[in-house]
Amino acid sequence: MKVLATYSIKGGVGKTTSAVNLAREAAAAGSRVLVWDLDPQGAATFFFRIKPKVKGGTQRLVGAKGDLVDHVRASDIGGLHVIPADFSLRHLDLHLDGTKRPTERLASLLAGVDGRYDVALLDCPPSISLASESVFGAADFLLVPVIPTTLSSRTLYQLSEFLAGQQSPPALLPYFSMVDGRKRLHRDVMEAVRSEWPDLLTTVVPNASVIERMGPERAPVAAYAPASAAARTFASLWAEVAARLWS
Ligand SMILES: Nc1ncnc2c1ncn2[C@@H]1O[C@H](COP(=O)(O)OP(=O)(O)OP(=O)(O)O)[C@@H](O)[C@H]1O
Ligand SMILES: [Mg+2]
Repeated sequence: MKVLATYSIKGGVGKTTSAVNLAREAAAAGSRVLVWDLDPQGAATFFFRIKPKVKGGTQRLVGAKGDLVDHVRASDIGGLHVIPADFSLRHLDLHLDGTKRPTERLASLLAGVDGRYDVALLDCPPSISLASESVFGAADFLLVPVIPTTLSSRTLYQLSEFLAGQQSPPALLPYFSMVDGRKRLHRDVMEAVRSEWPDLLTTVVPNASVIERMGPERAPVAAYAPASAAARTFASLWAEVAARLWS
């Protein structure tokens, strides 16, 4: 099982949007997919139309007797299961801190479902915390959406520096998100970041109202606008990610 996380220190950059669409693409390509919503906002849970409920609360989820199998829910999409979030996840750091090896805890929980899934995709809250370090301990790859602005790209460098100091860190897969090609600043920042990050994914997710419609539709783009350019973008993003996962 490959473990991926949509992760960024910065909020509102498209992590959940990517997680939901990429999970759908992976399932459509025949993979058995588990989405683990780690954000108390529960946005991925919402998009997959699942009740926001962590059975027994977050302490039970990550505690010594925790078993992810007890928390898995089926979604409307074939081959795609979800571990939903609820507001109790705001105490995730605290409950991880109460375990023996907090930074290894998410990895050991995921080991319990290895074999049942081909891909686990963790949708993370913004910030960098103990829970993030546990995500870094579990993930093979971090998918990092970057809005081409100064502050968003700056957090990519902060993350990269932080990971450089870690033992066996996950590989970074950054890509541009919510891009407005009409903006000079976006074009300039993209050029600057690309020159320093030659292996940046080439798929660019545009800022598009069809993507924002995921809110009212409560579904990945391909479910309600399968012929849209945005749906093709997520398919191409998944193809690129999958090529890195299984290269
Ligand atoms: N490519 C896009 N085009 C237009 N709107 C987008 C796009 N991607 C995301 N959005 C919108 O931007 C907002 C933030 O997106 P999203 O929730 O995916 O970001 P996030 O990084 O998961 O946020 P958070 O840090 O709060 O978890 C949402 O309202 C979403 O619908
Ligand atoms: Mg999110």
